[in-house]
Amino acid sequence: VSRAAELQNYLERTRRLIDQTLERHLPAAETEPSRLHEAIRYAVLGGGKRIRPMLACAAAQACGADPFPLLRALSAVELIHTYSLVHDDLPAIDNDDLRRGRKTVHVVYGEAMAILVGDALLTEAFAWLAAPIDGVPPARQLRAVAVVAAAADSRGMIGGQVADIEASGAANLPPQSTSAVPSLDVVRFIHKNKTGQLITASVLLGGLLSGASDDQLKTLEGYGRAIGLAFQIVDDLLDQEENEQTLGKTAGKDLAQGKLTYPAVVGAEQARREAAQLLDTAVESAGMIPGSVNFLPDLARYICARRN
Ligand code: IPE
Ligand code: IPE
Ligand code: MG
Ligand code: MG
Ligand code: MG
Repeated sequence: VSRAAELQNYLERTRRLIDQTLERHLPAAETEPSRLHEAIRYAVLGGGKRIRPMLACAAAQACGADPFPLLRALSAVELIHTYSLVHDDLPAIDNDDLRRGRKTVHVVYGEAMAILVGDALLTEAFAWLAAPIDGVPPARQLRAVAVVAAAADSRGMIGGQVADIEASGAANLPPQSTSAVPSLDVVRFIHKNKTGQLITASVLLGGLLSGASDDQLKTLEGYGRAIGLAFQIVDDLLDQEENEQTLGKTAGKDLAQGKLTYPAVVGAEQARREAAQLLDTAVESAGMIPGSVNFLPDLARYICARRN
């Protein structure tokens, strides 16, 4: 089997396991209030690449663990990610009506319900993270919970989202009013926080729950930071280069909304070069983990080569 086929196989197998975990552990649609639970399931199920839990699984495996008993905890990052998308799409933030090839949650269920779906998903995620896992020492698990909380908090993902909306429109300012260097710093801050933090925490979550050494955790962190920033650079490029059909979300939105994006600041070519450099860094870091099953380099390449 070629490496490409092996990776394809791995992605499909792991995605299926994650989808089953999400399906099984989310409250049933009939749970009262049923409209809320229906909306929660609409938001989470039936779409999404599942890249964050996939990274968590791959990190756990690279550190020598069987990811199977860890699946619920590792899938918790998908709940946090999905909540962030539901809120990101709200009229007050990016005002999007298409997500994962379907109408956004607030379009189908109303704004109030979409806000509450996000609240519920964030809380549910921490219940999944905190549920006892056979064979994982509670102190390790507690450390993992703290890492995920820090990534999602006001200095992490939410801080990045706030900087993103504060900078909206900034990319359209006349060039003399913002020097190029500060806006590059700002866009890096936004991307590392709104997207990079949760991706890094996903990788660390896999490492922590599998009992990785401090050296391995450092390596995983370097990998996560590099691929986390690359992920959002690629997202920015896709927003301006791909169509709605391929993306499953509205194309060309960043320019229309005056978002401060990587290509807006440095141009598409330079953005691509930086993503490629970050990919090299990530692959190099991942290569330092000696495990025999290590899909982290392949996942990094997949993140940079994806078209949606
Ligand atoms: C989109 O994330 C939002 C960003 C952080 C750029 P994904 O591209 O992982 O979205 P899904 O989960 O596959 O829909
Ligand atoms: C979203 O970034 C990041 C988070 C939701 C935390 P974007 O606004 O670029 O994501 P898309 O393009 O809507 O998926
Ligand atoms: Mg946004
Ligand atoms: Mg958005
Ligand atoms: Mg985007």
